[in-house]
Amino acid sequence: MIRQENGVFCVETRNTGYYIAPRGPLAEQLHYGRKIRPSAEVLRQPVVVAYGTDVIYDKETDPNLSLLHLGLELSPTEKGDFRRGALNLTLGNGSRVCDLRFAGSEILSQPPETPGLPTAREAGECLVLRFESGEGVLAELCYIPFEDCDVILRQLRLTNRTDGPVTLHRAMSYQLDLPRQDLLLTTLNGAWAREFEPSTTPVRPGLTAFGSVSGTSSHYCNPFFALSAPETGEHTGEIYGFNLIYSGSHGASVEADCYGFTRVMAGIQEEGFGWTLQPGECFVTPQAVLTFSGEGRNGLRYNMHRFVTGHILPPRWREEPRPVLVNNWEATYFDFTPRKLKALAAKAAGLGAELFVLDDGWFGRRTDDTRGLGDFDPNPKKLPGGLTGLADELENRNLAFGIWVEPEMVSVDSALYETHPDWAVSSPGVSPSFGRNQLVLDLCREEVRQYLIDQLNHLLDAAPIRYVKWDMNRHHTDRFSPTLPEQGRFAHVWTMGLYQVLEAVTVSHPDVLFEGCASGGNRFDLGILCYMPQIWLSDDTDAWERCKIQTWASLGYPQGTMGCHVSAAPNHQTLRFTPLDSRFDVAAFGLLGYELDVTKLNAAQEKSIKAQIAFYKEHRDLFQKGRFYCLNAPQADKGGAWMVVSQDRRQAAVLEMTGLVRPNTSMPVIRLTGLDETLTYQVSVRPQSVELDSFRTLLNHVSPVKLRADGMLVHLAGEVYQLPCEQLEFTAAGDLLMYAGLRPPQRFSGTGYTDGVRPMPDFSARIWMLSAL
Ligand code: GLA
Repeated sequence: MIRQENGVFCVETRNTGYYIAPRGPLAEQLHYGRKIRPSAEVLRQPVVVAYGTDVIYDKETDPNLSLLHLGLELSPTEKGDFRRGALNLTLGNGSRVCDLRFAGSEILSQPPETPGLPTAREAGECLVLRFESGEGVLAELCYIPFEDCDVILRQLRLTNRTDGPVTLHRAMSYQLDLPRQDLLLTTLNGAWAREFEPSTTPVRPGLTAFGSVSGTSSHYCNPFFALSAPETGEHTGEIYGFNLIYSGSHGASVEADCYGFTRVMAGIQEEGFGWTLQPGECFVTPQAVLTFSGEGRNGLRYNMHRFVTGHILPPRWREEPRPVLVNNWEATYFDFTPRKLKALAAKAAGLGAELFVLDDGWFGRRTDDTRGLGDFDPNPKKLPGGLTGLADELENRNLAFGIWVEPEMVSVDSALYETHPDWAVSSPGVSPSFGRNQLVLDLCREEVRQYLIDQLNHLLDAAPIRYVKWDMNRHHTDRFSPTLPEQGRFAHVWTMGLYQVLEAVTVSHPDVLFEGCASGGNRFDLGILCYMPQIWLSDDTDAWERCKIQTWASLGYPQGTMGCHVSAAPNHQTLRFTPLDSRFDVAAFGLLGYELDVTKLNAAQEKSIKAQIAFYKEHRDLFQKGRFYCLNAPQADKGGAWMVVSQDRRQAAVLEMTGLVRPNTSMPVIRLTGLDETLTYQVSVRPQSVELDSFRTLLNHVSPVKLRADGMLVHLAGEVYQLPCEQLEFTAAGDLLMYAGLRPPQRFSGTGYTDGVRPMPDFSARIWMLSAL
């Protein structure tokens, strides 16, 4: 809700409020956080005298006022706010001075258009604060509250009404001055196969800048970040979350100043950015997402998850149950034959999968990753019956057909490059750098975008394809496009070009499920989620690594957007062995898939996977759409725990994950949350088993007959039989489970093995199911 009360602009949601008051030509930030009854008189900075070196902004306005003493929604440039401001520009006369003064406000029933960029859906009213400079620069700040999920969007729009050009060097989506400096900054950093590693540091004097320059939102630094009070934990404490609806290079900074403020800002990456507006032209920044919760990281998750699900994802897919898939990538890589595909599909169907995804290598000359990108015709050797042949085959087995594409890229060894070498991005006279042997297509060019739209539409119309994995596997370098009037526009125009292609292809195929991917999570962001309701989270499918990645990604993104696969052991990224059932337990708290050679499973493994898929399907809604809580963030010496709870709080699932096992430890207690304290729940452990192999010589310890650990008998037995884990079932009150906690029984520690003892090697897991009586 937006209102004006006693000269204060109030932008409020159910629990939060953003309050601003004009102060002469300035707009002063009064408070952002928990909703309050504001008073400008009490909240404005009580500056009455100027100190030592203070620069007086404008004697007429206030002979004692320096900009540095205030929280400001927008800073006039070169006027004494020595913190970094949201805007940095040059006027036609070469001056960088821009005295933007508050000039009025408006409440619109709908936010103004944002041409070329994805925006949040079902937005309501929008507060616009207008600032003008004497020369005719107009800056408009937009505030859009989302009542139901405690989110406020911000955006900056700049219009050149001067009579010369205005060049933007920095145009952030917002700046926000919080009058405190006791905050901890959490950013989510990483690299290929280890996305979303949290880094938490105290806000410190000076500027802390972070972001990406690689052309995508990137695995180096996700656009989501948080600021929290020092005492904040999973369930309690104050925390702010920030994100951008944008997939290109982005930048953010947090700056503790000399007078107790922390200035936060984020938007398009300014490095390399330059955008000249001719008279009459307007520049609109991506929408930025701001949220606040007084209920710790799980409160923040709740806000972000509801916002993403309700206002970012394509509505067609919001409620739609997502299929269990089998993907052939880690099963075959590029090395597959028609026979192999047939065998994989037959097995996938038998296991209960619903979708078969044909990954990289099915088209053109693509026999390995040195060739073929840019072409879309099926390779007749690998697909003798074409795409429809494979689709028919799958349909007979009751499997939907999914396919991999990487449209934004081109290989030099491809028909496309041979015809249009100039469509690959490169700078005149410089040989371009390669990433994964490929070049980036110049999406700044209209004809390239049209080629991709035509190829993809044709592909999707030519065969009954129900799912597309849209991949993007290299960073941008050598940025130059001959079509642009200035190269400082490249990164942003390229990103808008991508959005245009995505929009055209997804809108004309509303029933195709799109999953984003960029070598895993190199482009896991709200811009992509506006078109594709799910994204492959990481190429790393190791259960323990995934446990960490999913935990931290969940700060900004719901589990129902994360592609999570069970893969082989040893894991292809870490060489680690984890139990098959534990790999499932972690993947089940997301969108489940299998990415291993299912034709090589032994009977025991096949039985386990069948049971896993049946179990997941039975509880799919809970796992994909339940409210996600982190109970304990994973740590190697302590393990971790999560929970999902159904909306009516009658169903819940708990993940219990061990890290590095230590023998004879204290008994863990897992305090649950989100249940109805007045209800009683049936509690059970999902039936699991462990491979006989994991016991080796210890087998004689638990078996009544003496066996040779490395003998044929044990090996053969292991093919068909696994050791069942503990079977537990009891009832317990909701209040008991939340306030006293779940008490899992002892783990196997060498001495003694009975029914109740739990064989839990390193990085193994359990799922506890709760159902209200
Ligand atoms: C990327 C993806 C993988 C797979 C390969 C295919 O690395 O993240 O899942 O699709 O490309 O080349």
